[in-house]
Amino acid sequence: MNFKEEIAEILKKSIKKLGYSDEKLVVSFSNKPEICDFQTNFALICAKDYGKKPIDFANEIVGGIEANEDFEFSAVMPGFLNVKVTEKGLSNYANFVSGNKFLGIEQEKTAKLIMFDYGGANVAKELHVGHLRSPIVGEALKRLNIAIGNKTISDAHLGDYGLQMGLTILQLKNDGYLDNFFDGTKNPKIKNVTLDLLNEEYPKASKTKENDKNFKSEAEKITLDIQRHIEPYFEIYKQIKDLSVVEIKKNYELLNTTFDYYLGESDAYEYIDETIQIFVDKKLARESDGALVVDVAREGEHIPIPKKTPDEPQRYKNPMPPAIIKKHNGGDLYATTDIATILQRNRDFKPDEIVYVTDNRQAGHFEQVFRCCKLSGISPEGQKLTHVAFGTMNGKDGKPFKTREGGTVKYKDVLNMLIESAGKKLAENGIVGDSELARKIGVGAMKFGDLSNTVAKDYVFDMDKFLAFDGKTGPYLQYTIARINSILSKAGKFDGKVCVRTSEERNIVLAVLKLNSSYIICKDTYSLNSLCLSAFDLASAFSTFYNNHKILTEKDESRKAEMLAICKLVKACLEKALWVLGIDSVEKM
Ligand code: ARG
Repeated sequence: MNFKEEIAEILKKSIKKLGYSDEKLVVSFSNKPEICDFQTNFALICAKDYGKKPIDFANEIVGGIEANEDFEFSAVMPGFLNVKVTEKGLSNYANFVSGNKFLGIEQEKTAKLIMFDYGGANVAKELHVGHLRSPIVGEALKRLNIAIGNKTISDAHLGDYGLQMGLTILQLKNDGYLDNFFDGTKNPKIKNVTLDLLNEEYPKASKTKENDKNFKSEAEKITLDIQRHIEPYFEIYKQIKDLSVVEIKKNYELLNTTFDYYLGESDAYEYIDETIQIFVDKKLARESDGALVVDVAREGEHIPIPKKTPDEPQRYKNPMPPAIIKKHNGGDLYATTDIATILQRNRDFKPDEIVYVTDNRQAGHFEQVFRCCKLSGISPEGQKLTHVAFGTMNGKDGKPFKTREGGTVKYKDVLNMLIESAGKKLAENGIVGDSELARKIGVGAMKFGDLSNTVAKDYVFDMDKFLAFDGKTGPYLQYTIARINSILSKAGKFDGKVCVRTSEERNIVLAVLKLNSSYIICKDTYSLNSLCLSAFDLASAFSTFYNNHKILTEKDESRKAEMLAICKLVKACLEKALWVLGIDSVEKM
């Protein structure tokens, strides 16, 4: 049931019957909700084609419409066609949604297989604030596609391959943690190596590398050994990776983010040689200073440089630099790994689309990777490769979020801060000691604060604002559901259908209609802001209804059941929207 399409069909029938072309007909939600629910400016645009006055043309079209119980059509000056959904029409829609297993969310006509690459945590390196947006946005985009009927595969694509591994291992070795790998011990195991230790060793190594050339080149050698599966470093690497992955998973789960696969850059290893060979065979690669590069620039193009502030003039880089697929020392590169991973994914899964969710500084990298894959045919024609580039999470000063001392904020610290503050707010409401509830609220606050912005934009992390129990926030939506839960549990069993009788109920059903149409907008824009805002509009329409009507004390049992049916509908639609956003609904708060 899609009102926009139904209205368009009715109008088209009339337009055709009168002998006109309906080609330019577009029906949209009204921007004057106090007057009508849907509108089209078809008559305004097309009247002159037939030498008519727009208002006369509009009246003629309205005159040609067959009687209908769901909609009222009217022509208004200077030539708008307005459509109001009748109470009957809204009740029909509400009851359709209540009984539909997709809650009226339109399903893709042909389901696609979409692979999502997000997360991007690096093994042996602590997650920091910059790693928050990818699981938040990526998880929501994945769930959105599930909600509209697509099939999805998600992969965390762990950074388990770079110099950071060589550096960390060399540091551990120098500090004596790896002795049993070098003293002839059989089947050695890493001992006393914890994540906390890794989090100390990597920054230490990273610093040493700056001033100590030998240290750096030794770390590079170890990295190469790992990449070539040479022992003992490959075994050490595997053990460290296992240790890290446990923690990485836990961190993502705190954010309600899970992956079908926790594969890493290293899993593309066996495809690297083949990948490079494809470029050589197709004569797409050339040598440059001992490295192998692929020219990906196209004639006359300009590459926009991301703006730091919106009022900065747009600047461009030109031309697009060649992609380096092999370094002079033979080491594999970030681009080559991503290209080989696409080859691997096409062997294993053949997705219709691969979506990457990373910050916008990687835009150039992905553009190079995608072009390489299209040039070489590694990505077949018709396969969509999409980079969803998100902006930075800033502090209240508008600059990238930092600790008070100016350092990088840890991922865990942000979460702990949110959970702690949510716990305090709950305590103000008399709920003490429910740490899981505090996590759900804290994470909900963060996610809604993030996703209610356009993905591409930078936004300000404002914890107090995000955690407010009223306003455009995650907790407000969770609170609305909790409130409905309480009404429904007090009401007990009831038997009734929605029957729209008041303007408040009208607004609720219209808000459901808008919420359901926002799923497609989000899919097309790869951004969840429209879903966040429509979910909020539904919650506030409910709040007005709740304040103006006595539901539980209503004497007329059948009227009471109608109102409870509305409550149930709002709860189901909000829970679904929150699920897509990766936010937990809560029983009470
Ligand atoms: N590990 C990378 C980082 O921390 C992000 C990986 C993004 N995904 C990809 N397929 N390259 O920056």
